[in-house]
Amino acid sequence: MKIRILLLSLICSAAAVTGVNAAEGKAKGGDKDETVLGGHMDKMGGAFRKLKRQISDASKNADSLTLVATIKAAGIESAKEKPAWKPEDAAKFQAKMKDFNAKVDKLEAALKANDNATAAKICDELGQAQKEGHKEFKKPDEKKK
Ligand code: HEM
Repeated sequence: MKIRILLLSLICSAAAVTGVNAAEGKAKGGDKDETVLGGHMDKMGGAFRKLKRQISDASKNADSLTLVATIKAAGIESAKEKPAWKPEDAAKFQAKMKDFNAKVDKLEAALKANDNATAAKICDELGQAQKEGHKEFKKPDEKKK
């Protein structure tokens, strides 16, 4: 009998933990895709993180070009959106995104030419544009992302 009670309470606590995790996952997922722009930015974020690690490695240029294609597609879509925190600055934001996208095109050309030194330099510039863009248009408490 005691064992049964023990088993039952174990099952209950396991279910409770699973339930909590599921709820957190949902809340987190909900936050992430809260805005259309946030969704595009997330796609850009995953690709950019990997790209930075391998940008100087010419043997990975084919893969780097697929990452750049992801960033490019997300950048083009982002330029059609408004920043949630400062919707009134939409025009300025869109102009900055277009500058960013022009740099992404240059990065693509450098990789196609196997010019990894130039590609690495442009990659740094994109990181800088990210920092500036987030400072200007992103809600301060989300800056850490
Ligand atoms: C390599 C470049 C960039 C990366 C990797 C990047 C990544 C991200 C990530 C991961 C988020 C959080 C998304 C979320 O889950 O809500 C975000 C949000 C955001 N980013 Fe970027 N970003 C980049 C460039 C830029 C640039 C250039 C700008 C502005 C010109 C910008 C403006 C924003 C804004 C406004 C948000 C908040 C989302 C919203 O308002 O709905 N980002 N970004």
